[in-house]
Amino acid sequence: MPTHEDRNRCHYVMAFIAETLRARNVVPTGLPHKAIVNTKLDKYTIPENMGVWVYQGIVCSNNKDWQNEREFKPERFIDSEGQYMTTRPKAYIPFGVGRRVCPGERLAIADLFLVLVRFLQLTQDYEIILDSNGGIDPNPDITDQLAPYPYKIKFHKR
Ligand code: HEM
Repeated sequence: MPTHEDRNRCHYVMAFIAETLRARNVVPTGLPHKAIVNTKLDKYTIPENMGVWVYQGIVCSNNKDWQNEREFKPERFIDSEGQYMTTRPKAYIPFGVGRRVCPGERLAIADLFLVLVRFLQLTQDYEIILDSNGGIDPNPDITDQLAPYPYKIKFHKR
């Protein structure tokens, strides 16, 4: 069974989780906030009480901050020594940013790691096939909608 300590040596799994959260942002629009005082942000003035949404899905997948932003590439989070990067790019904000950053981040990553590793262990004798017979594209355009359509996954014993 995987343990929490295993995270320190499973660099590629950690990078895979990070890339999944970047490319398929769970909360792409973040949560609503409000400016509590008149605020100047770069060239913009945000008046007191104005609602503010950080469209973090775009921050995590725009072509200024990310190379080949539409490519699923866990290697972005692996350093030159093959280790999972401890410092992540500034534009990596799937859990939000600042004072109201998600307090569940550590728990979420810990759980994702255990569930994913267990899943990989239990399915290593199977070929996993996405069933697109119904014409369903399991890899929809991320700017088009927020979640994939429901689709079937087939497991074929090798
Ligand atoms: C992959 C899993 C998760 C993702 C991607 C995620 C993402 C987020 C995001 C984007 C926010 C808004 C941050 C902001 O306003 O800037 C947020 C807020 C929050 N999250 Fe999560 N979250 C996850 C899991 C969890 C878990 C497991 C918990 C609790 C056990 C949790 C508890 C909260 C709470 C309480 C807030 C509100 C914080 C505040 O407004 O001060 N989240 N989360």
